Parts: sequence; structure tokens; C-alpha cells
Amino acid sequence: TANSMWGGRFAAGPDAIMEAINASIGFDQRMSAQDIRGSRAHAAMLAAQGIISPSDAEAIREGLLTVLSEIEGGRFTFSTALEDIHMNVEARLKELIGEPAGRLHTARSRNDQVATDFRLWVRDQCDAAVQGLRALIGALLAQAEAGADWVMPGFTHLQTAQPVTWGHHMMAYVEMLGRDIGRFTDARARMNECPLGAAALAGTGFPIDRHATAQALGFDRPTANSLDAVSDRDFALEFLSASAICATHLSRLAEELVIWSSAQFRFVAMSDKWSTGSSIMPQKRNPDAAELIRAKIGRILGAAVALFTVMKGLPLAYSKDMQEDKEQVFDAADTLMLALAAMTGMMSDLTVNRDRLEVAASSGFSTATDLADWLVREAGLPFRDAHHATGALVAAAERRGVDLPDLTLAEMQAVNSAITQQVYAVLGVHNSVASRQSYGGTAPDQVRAQIARWKGAMEGW
Ligand code: ARG
Repeated sequence: TANSMWGGRFAAGPDAIMEAINASIGFDQRMSAQDIRGSRAHAAMLAAQGIISPSDAEAIREGLLTVLSEIEGGRFTFSTALEDIHMNVEARLKELIGEPAGRLHTARSRNDQVATDFRLWVRDQCDAAVQGLRALIGALLAQAEAGADWVMPGFTHLQTAQPVTWGHHMMAYVEMLGRDIGRFTDARARMNECPLGAAALAGTGFPIDRHATAQALGFDRPTANSLDAVSDRDFALEFLSASAICATHLSRLAEELVIWSSAQFRFVAMSDKWSTGSSIMPQKRNPDAAELIRAKIGRILGAAVALFTVMKGLPLAYSKDMQEDKEQVFDAADTLMLALAAMTGMMSDLTVNRDRLEVAASSGFSTATDLADWLVREAGLPFRDAHHATGALVAAAERRGVDLPDLTLAEMQAVNSAITQQVYAVLGVHNSVASRQSYGGTAPDQVRAQIARWKGAMEGW
């Protein structure tokens, strides 16, 4: 039988496979609360403008509330024949209240309706991402505070570079995640314009009040161009892009946890709650959660690439291609929130092996730069010459199988006669980190200043 929404022009219903490829109700039912919220705002505005009667508006309002409670109570039967959430809600409304239901769609199209619903949904997810990020930053700040002066090796090329502090390393991630909060906040502010009332694409001849519906739905203003309003999915692309960047940060931290928890490193140990065993190797304690967080970027970036690919080259205005936006965003949002929660749990529960960190920091000639700097400062050598002399000392230590502090003064002076007993002070890892007092450096004082700054910022948000 022909469709009840547009059956006027159609004699027959769709092929079963047409119905299967066309329907979005299987996933867009996740926007039912947003859809009903948008319809209520629209109906109230239509009545305020004298476009529908107050009694029809009241019947619509009550009917929509009933539909919402049916959906929330799991008492609603979604129909694939009714294609999407918009038509499922409207059809049920008609069953409930009869004729007034048919007036709800005045001065509206599913094109502006879906754009509005989806913006409301994505807007909520921006807020959820910020909440998740705040929780993770809180966990990292606690780690940083505990270990503001724990010395660990800093790496470049995953080779020992210079000693840093655990707190400094944690705060590096806080900076990244802080920028992620900025991206979600900016995206939210930009997407906070209401497409409702753009109608199919050209606006409407009815005397609607788009400012009123925008305000009722918590938007800053209506979108300024009706063609753009129904065509734009930038807001979803921005959400996915911010999510992909955030997931990249989580992936890097996850990778470090995987490395650090290995038997070779033993810098950290995940608690039982965040580890898994092996079905064959009894000794195993696997960092599965960290590995999965490391991998989740694949799905999230995949969603971003998928939607970019859908949107590129689409002519204005609405095309059904755009229905492909939702599953990608739903999956990416679910994945990101889960990864944030898992990382927060893991970091809150992490045991840090402070002694191992220090032993590792003291090996691998990690204070060679301090030695070169000392030669510049105390012996007046140009840095390049100091670098060369220090390289020769490292080679001498390596030949003997010892580290720099183990060289005798005579061995040092054989390389450069200006070296005195005082040099040994700078070869210790604690002195090394304490000396790095430049703004943003790894000295514990600097790290504590970073922590204080972030704690203040967190309160301001
Ligand atoms: N389910 C559709 C979507 O997600 C709603 C909009 C349909 N509009 C239309 N003109 N067919 O995009």
C-alpha cells in the first residue's frame, strides 16, 4: 500500500529491499528525545504565530509527551515502513490525537527537522566529551601531584634523552586534553545555530518565528541561510575531527602504558580491575584496556573519513546521502566516551614504580647534556666543543661499561683538563631536573606551577 505521508502521488508501496536501504529508524531512534523536543518547540511557535489553533497545539503537546513516555518506557513499536524517527513519531501522534497531528508539519520539512535533531544530539555529545575529558584531566592531575618530583627518563626516538619528572610527563597529556576541551567547546559554540524553519530548502511562506524556536531549543540564533541550514554537516565533521584528535592523544598515552607496564620497563602496574590474564600463560597480566584505547582511534578516524567522503561533492541542498551521517557519529561518540572513561579508570588506579623510574632515569647517560652545559658554564667552552668533549666522555664510559658518574676525575680530565670535582653534582638526576627551571620546564617547581594553573582553569570551566 502507498505511503501514508506521501501516498497521494503513489499507487504502490516500496520494494522490501528499497525499504531496507532507505530506512534509518534502526539507528535514528536514538534521536527520539531531540525529535520530540524540536516538534514541541515548533508546535508552540506555530500557535504563537496564529498558524495553528491553541487547542491543536495543546493536543500536539500532550500527544508528543505521551509518545516520548512510550519511547522512554520501551512501549513504542518502531516501524521500518515508517522509515525514520520523524515519521514514526508523527504516525503515532496521529493515532493518539487524530487530525491535529497533521498540522504539526506545517512550515517544516524533514530536512530542517533532521538537521535540528542531529545538532541537538551532537551538541549534547560535545558536552559529554568535555565532561569525560575533565574527569581524565582530574586523574592525571592527581598523578602529577603525587609524582611532581619523581625522576624518570625522558625519551626522544624512544632512546633515553634527559631526565624528566613523572609529574611533567603527566602534565604533557593534560595540555593535550585541555586543547581537546577547547576544540569541543569551540565546535559546540559554532554549531549552536538552529536550522528549524529552513523547511525543505527555501524557507517558508508561513509567518513563522525562527528566533522563537531557536531560543526554545537553547540555540544562540537561527541559521542565516536556509539552503546552508539543511545542507550543512560541518558540525558533525567538527565533532568527528575533534574526537579523532582526542582519540589520538588517548592512543599515545595508551601506548606508553603498554610499554611502561612491560616486564622490561616495569615503570607502572595496572590494577587487577584494568588487566586481563592469559588462558595459557599463567604469568600474564595483559594491558588489554590500554591496547583497546590505543586501537579505538581507528574507528573514530574511520567515522570521520567516512563522513568527509559522504559530504564531499554533494550538491546543495539535502540529499539522502546525508542520512549516512548518523551511524558514524553515534559510533564515534560511543567509542570516545568509553575510551575516556576507561582511561580515567586506569589512570586513577595506576601503581607507579618510583624506584624503577629513578633507576631507569639514571642510566643511558641521561645527564650528558647537563655535563655539556656545565662545561659551557664553568669552563667557558663553546657549546659545540662541550658537546664534543662530552661525547668523548660517554664513549669512555661506554668502553668501561659504566655510566657517567662512575668515571674518575682523572678519566674526565684526560678528555678536558678544565673539569673539576664539582662536575659530579650535575651528573645526578635530581640535580638535573631541578636545574630545568625555564618556564614550562621539568623542574618540580615548574611542574607544581603547571598543576596549580590547571587546577585554577578547571574551576573556571
Ligand atoms: N531520515 C532522513 C535523514 O536522516 C531524514 C530526512 C529525510 N528527508 C528527505 N527529504 N527524505 O536524513
